[in-house]
Amino acid sequence: MELLKDLQQRYRQRYPASAALYDEAVAQTPGGVHGNLRHYPPFPLSFKRAEGARMIDVDGYTYTDYFLSYGSLILGHGHPSVREAVEKVWQIQGTSSFGTPHPMESEMVKVLREFYPSFESVRLTNSGLEATLLAVRLALAYTGRTHLAKFQGHYHGSHDQVLLNIHIDPRSREPIPVADSFGLPDYVKEHTVVLPFGDWESCEPLLERHKNHMGAVILEPMMGGYVPAPTGLVQNLRRWTQENNIPLIFDEVKTGFRVSLGGAQEYYGVKPDLTTLGKVVGGGFPIGVVGGKQEILSLCSPLRSQQPLFHSGTYNGNPMSLAAGLATMRQLSQPGYFDTIVENTRKLREGIEQLSEHYRAGWTTLGVGTIFNLVESGEPPLSKASGDGRLRRLQLDYLLMERGVFSKPMNRFSLSGVHEAQDIENTLKAFEQAFAALAYVKP
Ligand SMILES: Cc1ncc(COP(=O)(O)O)c(C=O)c1O
Repeated sequence: MELLKDLQQRYRQRYPASAALYDEAVAQTPGGVHGNLRHYPPFPLSFKRAEGARMIDVDGYTYTDYFLSYGSLILGHGHPSVREAVEKVWQIQGTSSFGTPHPMESEMVKVLREFYPSFESVRLTNSGLEATLLAVRLALAYTGRTHLAKFQGHYHGSHDQVLLNIHIDPRSREPIPVADSFGLPDYVKEHTVVLPFGDWESCEPLLERHKNHMGAVILEPMMGGYVPAPTGLVQNLRRWTQENNIPLIFDEVKTGFRVSLGGAQEYYGVKPDLTTLGKVVGGGFPIGVVGGKQEILSLCSPLRSQQPLFHSGTYNGNPMSLAAGLATMRQLSQPGYFDTIVENTRKLREGIEQLSEHYRAGWTTLGVGTIFNLVESGEPPLSKASGDGRLRRLQLDYLLMERGVFSKPMNRFSLSGVHEAQDIENTLKAFEQAFAALAYVKP
């Protein structure tokens, strides 16, 4: 506790410009942030510039950035091809938004369908939240049933229907639906089946018990983007949902174009009925995608003879997002480009694990492809850092920030095509110093 207090004291002294901006923000915005997940103690840093793999905060400190705007920027900040594509939209199209159909929409859908063969049909949205909202609405409408099954610990955005049990209760094999926000109507709890994220044997009885009113199953195939579901769970879930004609939704907002170019569905070799994407697909601009079975997506077609399922949005298919996203996918398709990011991720993880072992720091890493997180050594792979673990992680994060490494405290690490060997080396030096400092203060 003493160490944490010291580090927070140092933090306040080191970042006066961020502190001043935060004080101003707090006076006019709840908690000083425009999203609860943006806050961390004692106050979040504000940034003023970014380039490639680097970000500069308002106090002038430079960081190697592994946060990458929640993992969206897989080409790094301000990649020339993304910048050029967005500037071209201004020059050639003369506007940032038509609000009407335009040629890049089809282009985007075609490219997405190449990477994601499960996409027979696609609708674009403005965020991952909107994508999961639409996917769940489509699935429930398709089955005409009322209940959604979701997994404990999985996050699908901040709308009512999925804002339950995003934290794990490791004691519970039959989790009780718990709202993660007040203000949610009881209806949501009453119509959600919460599944434990682990082996198939503990899920099956719950699914069987509720199958007559279950309209959809949604999961993050890798919880938090970095905890892979056991292969048996994914395969059995696919088999069981198919047998019961219940749409299976893969929420790949984090894993899409990150664990592999074809997402977790490529990694597991499993085709979901619906998939949601976001983050990387927009190349740093707002986007969301729902892709999947034509039979389900066509429910929202205005050509339907019966009343269509409603879906609309002022900025859906926004040209800026599509130009940035298409440029990102073109770059990711360059031979060897994605593999190099995976290889650099592997090197960084290996280095961290070796250093942690050497300094007995107690951390290991978990993830697939270009994302990973630090997890406590010896903990079961499905548990997220909690209690003492959170405290230890926060201390480590402060020490890393002091040494020029930023992933946003408590957050996972994402790499990009512009993180180079030298960045990895510098980051490992920062970890070494941080681990050494933490080992020194151990009783
Ligand atoms: C798996 C998953 N689904 C949905 C969302 C919501 O996406 P957005 O923040 O774009 O609304 C997120 C955001 O982190 C996510 O990780």
